[in-house]
Amino acid sequence: MSFINPHLISLNENYLFAEIARRAEAFSQENPGVRLLRLGIGDVTLPLAPAVVDALSRAAVEMGSADTFRGYAPYQGYPFLIDAILKTEYAPLGVTLHSDDIFVSDGAKSDTANIQELLSPDAKVAVCDPVYPVYVDSNLMAGRTIVHLPCRAETGFAPALPEIPVKAVYLCSPNNPTGVALTRAQLAEWVAWARAENAVIFYDAAYRTYVESPDAPRSIYEIDGAKEVALEFGSFSKSYGFTGLRCGWAVVPAENRWGLQKPWLRRVATKFNGVAYPVQRAAEAALLPEGHAQSLQNVRYYKENARLLLAALRDAGLTVFGGTDAPYLWVKCPDGLDSWTWFDRLLREKQIVTTPGEGFGACGAGYVRFSSLGGREDVAEAAARIGVQ
Ligand code: MLT
Repeated sequence: MSFINPHLISLNENYLFAEIARRAEAFSQENPGVRLLRLGIGDVTLPLAPAVVDALSRAAVEMGSADTFRGYAPYQGYPFLIDAILKTEYAPLGVTLHSDDIFVSDGAKSDTANIQELLSPDAKVAVCDPVYPVYVDSNLMAGRTIVHLPCRAETGFAPALPEIPVKAVYLCSPNNPTGVALTRAQLAEWVAWARAENAVIFYDAAYRTYVESPDAPRSIYEIDGAKEVALEFGSFSKSYGFTGLRCGWAVVPAENRWGLQKPWLRRVATKFNGVAYPVQRAAEAALLPEGHAQSLQNVRYYKENARLLLAALRDAGLTVFGGTDAPYLWVKCPDGLDSWTWFDRLLREKQIVTTPGEGFGACGAGYVRFSSLGGREDVAEAAARIGVQ
């Protein structure tokens, strides 16, 4: 019997984005002084909105004064932040949730990795292929069987319903990595399937503020009946610039048909002591009118980056998906190259860091993902270099 969890050691040696960082670092060591254009991991580059910084600093000062100091935060998050989430993220969509349905967290990455602890160890789970690797790796670590739902260009990268019974499915829309958003009709089909099959949907909505297609829902709760079968994950990272601050939320509605709210609270209270007070104040500020307007200007900047990249890649004769409802562009490799080979060529010949599609699953083979969350200078330079063969 092995000492280490055998499921953990059977994973790929490096987490996908750690491997990309390792290769980029190796290139920089071999080529000192060469500037890399970083369009790999989806990390934001613009600073926090002024109103958010102001709230963060004020809250830090409060922590230094006996009469305003705060210790442990409430397990589900401070009511001021939960109220702001309900008012800014859900009310405008016509979605009514209760404050007990919201669990403030340190981000959607942790939530989507941890949520599988609600499932029995023998539950089968379905994931799209290609997929954000966190869903797969966290379930593999727990020893679960994973069913892959191929998403291909011919079907607009929409997954087909599972052909064998599963207890849970992870959906991400707008999608990481393909950049494509599910339509209302497609999402309604998933909710109807989950209700009929008695399966739970884990819905990752981390990129919702990038959606512009009128037919793509921002929240799964815009679909009737979803509260009974779907949990949703929101993030402050890509919309409000919090990749370094860390804040997100999970929605576990009281209406959930398996009563998952109570066991999730039990799990959260055991393993988590809440997001730092200054970070929760900063998150609240990002949702109040001034900070919200300032932050959404940053989203518009990244969307303009995506537009520049999309135009340059298409002008270069490449086949590109995504980039309008999400900060990611999913690009078919030229000349039948495999995704690691094109990734290496882009790195060595054009100094552009991307993410090879194969890292997101077997169906990602033959694609490379470009992130538009870089600085404008890098994006414009990358767009210019892509045009030069
Ligand atoms: C990505 O590049 O896919 C994201 O940055 C990953 C994440 O949000 O954890």
